[in-house]
Amino acid sequence: MQTKPKRITTRTLRSMKEAGDKIAMLTAYDYSMAKMLDASGIEVLLVGDSASNVMAGHETTLPITLEQMIYHAQSVIRGINRCLVVVDLPFGTYQGDSHHALHSAIKIMKESEAHAVKMEGGSEIAESIERILSAGIPVMGHLGLTPQSIYKFGTYQVRAREEEEANKLLEDAKVLEELGCFALVLEKIPSALAKKVTESIAIPTIGIGAGPHVDGQVLVTHDMLGITKDFHPRFLRRYLDLHDLVEQAVWRYIEDVKNGDFPNESEQY
Ligand code: KIV
Repeated sequence: MQTKPKRITTRTLRSMKEAGDKIAMLTAYDYSMAKMLDASGIEVLLVGDSASNVMAGHETTLPITLEQMIYHAQSVIRGINRCLVVVDLPFGTYQGDSHHALHSAIKIMKESEAHAVKMEGGSEIAESIERILSAGIPVMGHLGLTPQSIYKFGTYQVRAREEEEANKLLEDAKVLEELGCFALVLEKIPSALAKKVTESIAIPTIGIGAGPHVDGQVLVTHDMLGITKDFHPRFLRRYLDLHDLVEQAVWRYIEDVKNGDFPNESEQY
């Protein structure tokens, strides 16, 4: 009899931090990719609002809607057996009114059956985080470069290089921990600051462009597999050049169709 794989929970991640085991997280937006990533042993899948960029072709993460995030999350949930699935609350669904935030989080959890939500920001969204947590919904925080605020920053460059911003980030990390967030994404901040944050809080930190002294790493799957071609930030390690491999396979297919080689004797009825 096949045994059910042990599920990763928010508690698993906390134990991993305590044991010094690094957490591996990637993004997923669809069933087939989620199935492959889950089977590969990834611990956390993030249904990121980066779907707005890599799936829908928008320039920013701002346009993606709650309904679109739920559609992606439903697809991912159908593909997994063991990993923890976290869904981004999209721009405009939690920043203003904490009741609206709770409604958005409940809608995601109810309709997608995902396991947690992620929210960008610190003390300024504390009331929304608190209300969502009080409904029993686990929340992952996100500090540093927060792409939903791109028009405030004006650039995707490294955040919190200056002392004032670094201090605010450290304070925000402590606020998120105190509120009860189960983990924290640190995006594009100096490695030394990420180390300080990681050592200052008991919840796991997951870095992207935040150096090695964090409790885990996350990358956008389309970037690390080389599906996206023209995105080369320093923090990104490409494990495949899928864009080129797909292009070559499609060239071969076109050629086979045009010259009548496909389908052959064994590929027909
Ligand atoms: O939306 C996303 O993919 C993210 C990761 C970059 C952390 O938030």
